[in-house]
Amino acid sequence: MSDGVSSLPWAAAPAAGNAIALYAKWTPALDVKIAAALQRLRDANIQHGDGLVQSSSLGVEDMVITDLIARTGLPIDIATLDTGRLHAETLALLPRIQARYGFEVQVFKPVADAVIQFVAREGEDAMYRSMELRKACCGLRKLEPLARMLKGRSAWITGLRREQSGARGDVAFDEDDGNSRRKLSPIADWSWAEVWAYVEKHDVPYNPLHDQFMPSIGCAPCTRAIAVGEDFRAGRWWWEDSSKECGLHAKG
Ligand code: ADX
Ligand code: SF4
Repeated sequence: MSDGVSSLPWAAAPAAGNAIALYAKWTPALDVKIAAALQRLRDANIQHGDGLVQSSSLGVEDMVITDLIARTGLPIDIATLDTGRLHAETLALLPRIQARYGFEVQVFKPVADAVIQFVAREGEDAMYRSMELRKACCGLRKLEPLARMLKGRSAWITGLRREQSGARGDVAFDEDDGNSRRKLSPIADWSWAEVWAYVEKHDVPYNPLHDQFMPSIGCAPCTRAIAVGEDFRAGRWWWEDSSKECGLHAKG
């Protein structure tokens, strides 16, 4: 990288912690929240049937939801966007999910030609040069494949939580996504401590990068570890003074 990013202190991987030991805390409310989340999934299945898909980033919230889906026994499809820039640890969850739950995750990739042309024109790491280029990269690697993932669907399940950021503080369990679909966030009211308490109790497979102080994991070039006291999403597009949203969850 030519813009000084590699010289930043977090470019070196921090010593690994253990996310469960660091964060898990069972709360009295959690049993009730789990029952409510399971009921939301059952209701969604009744309402949307084959029109329902879990959109999983393979981050820990989405792994909890996949585990909840497995516990309902419902045939809810699970899909992910493989942008071509994900960490190997993230992709390694695909066979882990298959082995654990017997679910084959549907993988949606960007159009190869569009990526080749963009990279030839702007370089591999154009996202650091301007917000326009970053958004162009997200557009072709995430938004276009998302549109394909959601084609023919009436609802998608996300792992959004209100606690993740100010912009997500009002995430509803069931809301209009602005494109005539329902966006369902069955664990919107869970805390970070509750997510990890669930992982611990049910031995949910998770991305080992969470043990390296990456609470929010996206593409490798656009994700770094956070330091003590930093916001949950501080490690996403950290060089930008932006809303830290890529467009997947744009309002309206
Ligand atoms: S992002 O917009 O900044 O990338 P974030 O990583 O917080 O989103 O994830 C929020 C939710 O968006 C996830 O729980 C998941 O539902 C969806 N999502 C994000 N990235 C992906 C991906 N690569 N594939 C599928 N769904 C994703
Ligand atoms: Fe490209 Fe980064 Fe967006 Fe991934 S998060 S699509 S690498 S700009």
